[in-house]
Amino acid sequence: MTTCCTVSLIIIQAGGSISGLTIFGVNMKKIPVIIDCDPGHDDAIALVLAFASEKLDVLAVTVAGGNQTLVKTLRNAKKVLYCMGKRPLLAAGADKPMFRELQIAPAVHGESGLDGPSLPDPDWQEDPRPAWELSRDLIMASAEPVTLIPTGPLTNIGILFTAYPEVKRKIARISLMGGSVMEGGNWSSAAEFNIIVDPEAADIVFRSGVPITMCGLDVTHKAQILPEDAGAIRALGGKVPLMVAGLIDFFYKYHAVQGFAGAPMHDPCAVAAVIAPEIFTTKDMHIDIETKGEHTAGMTLADLRFWTDAKPNATVCLDIDRAAFARLLIDACGKY
Ligand code: RIB
Ligand code: CA
Repeated sequence: MTTCCTVSLIIIQAGGSISGLTIFGVNMKKIPVIIDCDPGHDDAIALVLAFASEKLDVLAVTVAGGNQTLVKTLRNAKKVLYCMGKRPLLAAGADKPMFRELQIAPAVHGESGLDGPSLPDPDWQEDPRPAWELSRDLIMASAEPVTLIPTGPLTNIGILFTAYPEVKRKIARISLMGGSVMEGGNWSSAAEFNIIVDPEAADIVFRSGVPITMCGLDVTHKAQILPEDAGAIRALGGKVPLMVAGLIDFFYKYHAVQGFAGAPMHDPCAVAAVIAPEIFTTKDMHIDIETKGEHTAGMTLADLRFWTDAKPNATVCLDIDRAAFARLLIDACGKY
């Protein structure tokens, strides 16, 4: 069969193996990832981007309380995945931060946590294991180091690292949405929502020694989807593009009042940083998490002293090619 022989020939030429297939020098190996989220409009769009990418093997989706209560974020994850025609391993995690009460964001995401488009509510039972147990099982069983993509408060990751520290050596990287270096906060003047909801969990993550890509407000406020981008997505037609356009419309309303020209796509940045790192401008920095301050709790404090001897613990995304990012999102919607 020509196809089979052709593929084999390419493998022989490239000297690759099936698992590490390279074609003409391009590494075609999928990156195993676990997405931890709190849907949430931008979390939902991050899921659409991730499942559309040929570069990712999404091992599981885990959910935490954050934008809304865990009951609602779990229901929203099921609705979005059902609309996408995906049924990955799905597990519920923490319904509150490790040491604090939960803060939710109904003003941003609505009472349901996913106000706007009307989505069917599937009768789908999640995995019986809590998020940190499912993640531990998948990470330890994976032949390849796993990349974690948390797009909500870091509670589930904090619990995972505390309960099962052995997983750290099998994690390639954490590409997270959270924090900010120069942009200030969006939940307090100093702190971004995902970090301030559970600063103690964030502190565990940033002290873990696991490589981190930090997609904070410095970059996500530049990663705006403009009305014309939303129009291009809607014009694709079909239930997933129409869901995404509806989510963007709702999310944009809140941000337009704040003066944004478009809807800042916070969580999709954490996925894009894995599948298209070339569209980001980054700088390695040492980040400390403030867990005590009356005004600064939840702050991601970057050591900006050029003479510092503090070891960098995060690759911080500071800028993005916005047009390329919008293209990535529009193309992803076109894959459904
Ligand atoms: O600050 C933005 C973050 O908070 C995003 O993850 C959004 O979904 C909310 O969780
Ligand atoms: Ca989120």
